[in-house]
Amino acid sequence: MSEKSPKLRAELDGIPTYKPGKPAAAGGAVAYKLSSNENPYPPLPGVLESAVAAAGRFNRYPDMACTDLVNELAERFGVPVDHIATGTGSVGVAQSLIQSTAGPGDEVVYAWRSFEAYPIITQISGATSVQVPLTDGDVHDLDAMYEAITERTRLIFVCNPNNPTGTAVRRAELERFLDRVPSDILVVLDEAYREFVRDTEVPDGIELYRDRPNVCVLRTFSKAYGLAGLRVGFAVAHERVAAALRKTAVPFGVSQLAQDAAVASLRAEDELMGRVGALVCERDRVHAALLGQGWTVPDTQANFVWMRLGERTADFAAACEKAGVVVRPFVGEGLRVTIGEPEANDLFLHTAEAFFKQM
Ligand SMILES: Cc1ncc(COP(=O)(O)O)c(C=O)c1O
Repeated sequence: MSEKSPKLRAELDGIPTYKPGKPAAAGGAVAYKLSSNENPYPPLPGVLESAVAAAGRFNRYPDMACTDLVNELAERFGVPVDHIATGTGSVGVAQSLIQSTAGPGDEVVYAWRSFEAYPIITQISGATSVQVPLTDGDVHDLDAMYEAITERTRLIFVCNPNNPTGTAVRRAELERFLDRVPSDILVVLDEAYREFVRDTEVPDGIELYRDRPNVCVLRTFSKAYGLAGLRVGFAVAHERVAAALRKTAVPFGVSQLAQDAAVASLRAEDELMGRVGALVCERDRVHAALLGQGWTVPDTQANFVWMRLGERTADFAAACEKAGVVVRPFVGEGLRVTIGEPEANDLFLHTAEAFFKQM
């Protein structure tokens, strides 16, 4: 028998592993998971029923074209049906976007720190990450991102609002940036948290994409719509880009459960957006309370807050966990805390106050 092991692509060496948010401790202790930017509310009854009905048919493959969902989305956003491409979560669509545009020798530009899947999916494709530091205020530095463009740049992510800082870029600066980027580079506006935005100066990417063929918008059902476990996201992009996404997507990647639940969620939007409104109120309450306690916390337009704690990050995360709230530390840098149910937010605020006093 041969001693040799299979040859794997060298690009895979050193790929950072995706760290999922830690689950809440099992075993009866009061524990809240504020580590993955999930929606704390259980599925709405109508949405659950749609998924359960689809479960009765899972001996069959799903509709590969996601016809009902795509039609529903096209109508909702007023875009052509062939401008929508779906995938297994928006991270699946993001991976297809890179596969469609970049390979070895090409560059993918994004802010850092930002969504931790960007370096992983870039490296998998064999392309090179170009990470542009956030400003001191933890906002995208669009001028520096523009300066980072080279002839090898194929794709630029603008995460708006940014994960994990919650900060958002506004219309004037984003439009100025988009107007300057060469039109043969794809700009992806990752709007996973769009529904939580309340700053009216933060533009809706779908308005910006319409007359810009090199702009694509990424959205997800995982956050505001509360379908994280079902894995469905989509892109709105001009025909050539959307067609490339359909070519590179995993066939039958979006289950029928996910498709039907997503359609039901769009139809239950009023109720869902009521819940989002409640989360936004909680976010503003938590943000104001942290400022009141003396913390420096950037303005957030998402369903989480960011605390740049540096060396104290791990200690604070441990204190939160001890108190029964699991948060998301980026050791040595800072901590992201998802807005959850009011009891969870209170518990977190209590811990933050005590920690601040003993610093
Ligand atoms: C900015 C951003 N984009 C995309 C995603 C991917 O979400 P999903 O694959 O669940 O749609 C996330 C998830 O955390 C995110 O924070």
